[in-house]
Amino acid sequence: MEFLGGLGIATIIFYGGYQVIKGISTPGTFFSFLTALFMLYDPVRKLTNVNNTIQQGIAGAKRVFGIIDIVPDIRNSVTATDLPKISTGIDIQNVTFAYEETPVLKNINLSIKAGEVVAFVGMSGGGKTTLVNLIPRFYDVTEGRILIDGSDIREVTIESLRGQIAIVTQQTILFNDTVRNNIAYGNIEETEENIIQAAKAANAHDFIMNLPDGYDTVIGEQGAKLSGGERQRISIARALLKDAPILILDEATSSLDTEAEIEVQDALENLMKGRTTLIIAHRLSTIRNAHRIIVLANGEIMEEGTHESLMEKRREYFRFYTMQFKDEKRNGIENNRQ
Ligand SMILES: Nc1ncnc2c1ncn2[C@@H]1O[C@H](COP(=O)(O)OP(=O)(O)OP(=O)(O)O)[C@@H](O)[C@H]1O
Ligand SMILES: [Mg+2]
Repeated sequence: MEFLGGLGIATIIFYGGYQVIKGISTPGTFFSFLTALFMLYDPVRKLTNVNNTIQQGIAGAKRVFGIIDIVPDIRNSVTATDLPKISTGIDIQNVTFAYEETPVLKNINLSIKAGEVVAFVGMSGGGKTTLVNLIPRFYDVTEGRILIDGSDIREVTIESLRGQIAIVTQQTILFNDTVRNNIAYGNIEETEENIIQAAKAANAHDFIMNLPDGYDTVIGEQGAKLSGGERQRISIARALLKDAPILILDEATSSLDTEAEIEVQDALENLMKGRTTLIIAHRLSTIRNAHRIIVLANGEIMEEGTHESLMEKRREYFRFYTMQFKDEKRNGIENNRQ
């Protein structure tokens, strides 16, 4: 391109100069033509770069479409029907699940009545998150089945199933968008009033108002500009706003300090009323009021019952509880010393 341009200019100077010498054209005409030509040179050269940009774009688009076109493993079955609002409960029948070869959940049987609050406790890696993730069909069971009101969840539409579930995941999922959009989570029809109310209930309103642009603050990729506890409160606000009949709380308050936790806990207790709730918490004090506590270890249900009945049994749960209680007491004493 550079070479062709140079050649063109040389030709024009030669031919134009020749015409001026011959008296066919004036020097004024020649120089204005030449100036115009030089001004044209740069834009034309830039035009050739456009092709580079287009090629880069095409290569990028191919990669993006490669991802968009992936067919998900979890899909609606062709005969799927809409799931009506949950009325009787969730039945987990002989469920075995493996991510790869070794089963993470082994032959789980559990019936949860509509409106019941069921807590899951147990050692890290025991399979608690895995079990609750099976309900919204983030994964399909390897063996057995899960029924909601008697319908296998693989036979209902994913939209109607997930539409009934509000979830606070163990790892908060936030987008590089405003606080408002993160709470509304794609629901553009949500009113400002409801969003603020949900944020207040999640004990998040005050810190949001202290952000540079309030509800319009963009929070960074994965909420990078917020603290762990703040992120969790935004996730909780999102779940509160969704107002769904089934609630899944996976360590929803684990990054909060005791004070914030007590306040958010109140909001969660209110939220849980009348809803079918599956709650996972390491801090056992937060689940004492659950209707039923399930102790999961190595993918199996070790024991289940209310806090009182499990304490009386003096087995796994009792051991967990007393261990934690001792820990808290020790920390308390150390804090006092400091
Ligand atoms: N996506 C995955 N792929 C493969 N293995 C996984 C995956 N997620 C979890 N696991 C494995 O499954 C087991 C159970 O994990 P899970 O997250 O259900 O435990 P958990 O009881 O929720 O633990 P924690 O209390 O630490 O959250 C673990 O041994 C873990 O290594
Ligand atoms: Mg977990």
